[in-house]
Amino acid sequence: MRSRSRVFFEQGGVAGFTHRAFAKSMGFDGDDLNRPIIGICNTYSELNNCNRHLRELAEAVKRGVLQAGGLPLEFPTISLGEIFLSPTSMLYRNLAAMDTEEMIRGQPIDGVVLLTNCDKTTPAALMGAASADLPCILVSGGPMLSGHYQDQILGACTDCRRLTAEYEAGTLDGATYREIEDGIVRSAGHCMVMGTASTMNSLTEALGMALPGNGAIPAVDSRRLRLAQNAGRRVVELVEEALRPSHIMTRQAFENAITLLCALGGSTNAVVHLPALAGRLNVELPLSLFDEISRRTPLIANMRPSGRYQMEDLFYAGGIPAVLNQLLPLLHGDTLTVTGKSLAENVQNAEVQNSDVIRSLHNALKPEGGLAVLCGNLAPEGAVIKHSAATPELMQHRGRAVVFHNIDDLHARLNDPDLDVTATDILVLQNVGPVGGPGIPEVGNFSIPRKLLQQGVRDMVRVSDGRMSGTAFGTIVLHVAPESAVGGPLALVRDGDEIELDVAGRRIHLHVGDEELAQRKSVWRPPQAAASRGYSRLYLDHVTQAPLGCDFDFLHGADPVQAREQPKF
Ligand code: FES
Repeated sequence: MRSRSRVFFEQGGVAGFTHRAFAKSMGFDGDDLNRPIIGICNTYSELNNCNRHLRELAEAVKRGVLQAGGLPLEFPTISLGEIFLSPTSMLYRNLAAMDTEEMIRGQPIDGVVLLTNCDKTTPAALMGAASADLPCILVSGGPMLSGHYQDQILGACTDCRRLTAEYEAGTLDGATYREIEDGIVRSAGHCMVMGTASTMNSLTEALGMALPGNGAIPAVDSRRLRLAQNAGRRVVELVEEALRPSHIMTRQAFENAITLLCALGGSTNAVVHLPALAGRLNVELPLSLFDEISRRTPLIANMRPSGRYQMEDLFYAGGIPAVLNQLLPLLHGDTLTVTGKSLAENVQNAEVQNSDVIRSLHNALKPEGGLAVLCGNLAPEGAVIKHSAATPELMQHRGRAVVFHNIDDLHARLNDPDLDVTATDILVLQNVGPVGGPGIPEVGNFSIPRKLLQQGVRDMVRVSDGRMSGTAFGTIVLHVAPESAVGGPLALVRDGDEIELDVAGRRIHLHVGDEELAQRKSVWRPPQAAASRGYSRLYLDHVTQAPLGCDFDFLHGADPVQAREQPKF
């Protein structure tokens, strides 16, 4: 049976004539068009610093495709950079996923290599590719080298926040603060602590969608070019084998990814992205599964912000294959991967080179993984805390709520010297969820009031329906669901209410009686819609809550491209 691209180019009549004639205008001849055609889906952008080197990686992929007898054709999709995009890149993750899916579906290609890097580009590309379900390998751009200031090693952006807090507290002078900007982000690549990009790109190995080593090879290390070239060679074989994402990303593969997430102390954002990706494949990943796996998975990667080291150190210590090797007793080792081998076969010879960076299961940093899922009358559908990066003394805490009604209110009052707030209070931020944000922005790790910083306070319990950057730290309860903008209990919290956080008991409780809460709900009104038109309107009308991944309700499930199909005209 002819391949998808062959059917397209060998079609009779004027359609086939134009397909071939216009392809020839690009310099391709009949021999070229007889080869498997591999799309290279590139999220390169000059407005996305993390993805700025992807053109070079695309050239490496092309070499590999050509060596294996394929024809590589590169195409762009939306690129989402964390730093320059407003109001939040998460608002556009689903748009990027739609772009990826529709371009894979619409073009006469037989397989695809996804080139991604910054936080949202990887889950968006995987979501789109999962729904289109054409043979596919993901190659990410890799982490930055570690940052430096004088003899200090710095991490973006864990130290951006830490140093800003010191500057705000008056313990770091302005000249030094500015000078540190020169060396904290010193190479191409994504943030080099175990933030969201490091997490998601590492999880691609456990999911089976990337070649071994993808997670940690530094962006500027030539081994990443060789990995990209190998991906180009391998994807041509994947087309011949008709091995699709839906064959690889099974429920067991997702459980492997969650196990790795917990062992790495990875980003809480993965608790949003993985259910969204799984939803594309009709795999359910309830929040309870994350908690269950976290309880049985020791934290073995000593990585910032939960631990001490950065991605460059992890690479030298053996990378993600070595972490997965240590985790094998907890993994489904027989899951299939894009190598054509099982996950266990991929990592069976991976050795740990530094046992302080990658611990064994018996010498773990913590006996449990870094994440906990909380429930209670304040979060009936769940909330998440990364307790591995939180203050142990605050894991059991009861305090008085100090409430901010939205981002503008937070900015207006947080540093007011007259704000009635003490170090034992619990700061609550409402209306920053999927609908309220909109786009569930990374504001859950909002700053501590300046007057408390100046008193030496460096952490407080903070509760919101927003997300936080994977590079952030602190005692921060996130993704409270249902969110306040749709009338969740978080909307009913008032200044002075008592809130109790009990991480060991997996509970977050608002000490206000049911009758009083019902009365407050009866007078509650939703905030004004954040958009009236365009993509943002579509987002508000269709976004799901955090436990379902904030995907659009109409994007759940797949609509696989037929690998060998007749064109529609
Ligand atoms: Fe892209 Fe941090 S800004 S990963």
